[in-house]
Amino acid sequence: MSTTSNTPAAERPAASQPPSCKVSASPQEAPASPPGKRPAPPCTLVIFGAGGDLTKRLLMPALYNLAVDGLLDDGMKIIGVNHGERETSVWREDLHKSLEQFAADKASTFHAGKLDDKAWDWVAQRLEYMAGEFETDDTFTKLKQQLEQTPGGNVIFYLAVSSRFFKPIVEHLGKAGLLKEGEGGGFRRIVIEKPFGTDLASAKDLNAHILSYAKEDQVYRIDHFLGKDTVQSILAVRFANALFEPMWRREYIDSVQITAAETIGVEGRGKFYEQTGAFRDMLPNHLFQLLGMVAMEPPNSFDAEAVRDKKAEIFDAIKPLTPDDVVFGQYEKGPAGVGYREEPDVAPGSTTETYAAARVFVENWRWAGVPFYLRTGKRLAARRTEISVQLKPVPFRLFRDTPVDALTPNVLTLRIDPAHGTSFDFNVKTPGPVMQIGAVQSSFDYGDFFAERANVGYETLLYDCMLGDETLFQRADSIETSWCAVDDVLHPKTGGAVPVHGYAAGSEGPAEADALLARDGHAWRPLKRDAVQKK
Ligand code: BG6
Repeated sequence: MSTTSNTPAAERPAASQPPSCKVSASPQEAPASPPGKRPAPPCTLVIFGAGGDLTKRLLMPALYNLAVDGLLDDGMKIIGVNHGERETSVWREDLHKSLEQFAADKASTFHAGKLDDKAWDWVAQRLEYMAGEFETDDTFTKLKQQLEQTPGGNVIFYLAVSSRFFKPIVEHLGKAGLLKEGEGGGFRRIVIEKPFGTDLASAKDLNAHILSYAKEDQVYRIDHFLGKDTVQSILAVRFANALFEPMWRREYIDSVQITAAETIGVEGRGKFYEQTGAFRDMLPNHLFQLLGMVAMEPPNSFDAEAVRDKKAEIFDAIKPLTPDDVVFGQYEKGPAGVGYREEPDVAPGSTTETYAAARVFVENWRWAGVPFYLRTGKRLAARRTEISVQLKPVPFRLFRDTPVDALTPNVLTLRIDPAHGTSFDFNVKTPGPVMQIGAVQSSFDYGDFFAERANVGYETLLYDCMLGDETLFQRADSIETSWCAVDDVLHPKTGGAVPVHGYAAGSEGPAEADALLARDGHAWRPLKRDAVQKK
């Protein structure tokens, strides 16, 4: 969260920006950076997985956006490592083409319209392709030679690869001496994508492996939800407004719903999804991160460790989930298309869940007894990532003809995707001589107040990593406590695996998920819903 960082880039310790690591300036100069923001220190970004989807869809658009904003240093270099020989010019051309496609596609998060040629040229001039297998010494020897051209330079190793390569790449980097931050030398950082392990044991093993070659402050574990402005804004809504914080506690809050519903299916990722499932894919990472932002205590400052400590306390306070707290579903043929089992690379008898719902309790002073209902799924009725905080009913039946039970509950909804904003449901008197209560909604959309950019969410994360600001990255302990909270669901100590219930593609999810809330007297907010009707 660079804007809230206590230490501006220019004031960071010298180790982050040694003068010696600046590579020769390119004739193409970076555009001026926005007021109050400075370019990140010069560095070489080494992307393992240069030919992959992540590089194309997210990293390049993010680097391009950072270049448009003038937030990258002229001395920046980008080395793309991938198996298969390829000319740098071909790699650049491929990236340019896909960038243009995404920019023109209104459905893409990167719908920038026409590309700014100056910014693209600036990025393109810094791209260099290097052919190499991720598990052979030769690749790392070649890489070392390349990096030695900028002695003492800052280097970020970005692992945009399948998780099976995380360990071998880190090991090779370590053994080749590439993770050593020498005296007067620049930083060496590793960015690791999710999935970070598949359960508690594997996450612990991965952490231990990485930390035997690098220090914790060199490791940047990404959860891309934290790169979304609307997610970062949860803390702004909570801690920059006197209105909300006093009621942000068990005395006033009845329940919280956290939803990440998608209309897409597995989109050609059948192989990955078969082994992962909706629960592992989304719950102990993205949804827990949202829960952490909603539930954390106010930190003393926006210092990375202060924020991460408070979030860590929440993950630690989550009551371990049991199979009884979760519902799994799998989409079947329905109005939105074929069933999951008919998707490519999916076993005809697959029992992998494409939907997961959970009831979570945070066992601490502020949240005791308040249920947090989490749900996520593919091929649902609507795309909707949001957090709804429902307040308790008013304490007294003042309006006799309108029993308080019938009043619409007050709900604050923080809309993350695809709508960006907040809304608040509350009650007023309807016009006319009779005292009647009517439900209304007050809402705010980012687009009405701010110029929204085609931001893919990785801009902040990359920029922060270059600045050395770890606020939005996950610490080893939090990853492990999150997996720990769900371990009994993944490896039930008693009973069998969690049953998987069918739901029609394009529906609201399995009926059993409704029952999970109904037993507490609650109901999911419909995915497909209109704003409160205005007359
Ligand atoms: C990814 C999951 O981490 O997040 C995907 O692997 C999911 O399955 C995606 O579709 C959702 O992210 P977003 O930003 O599109 O809501």
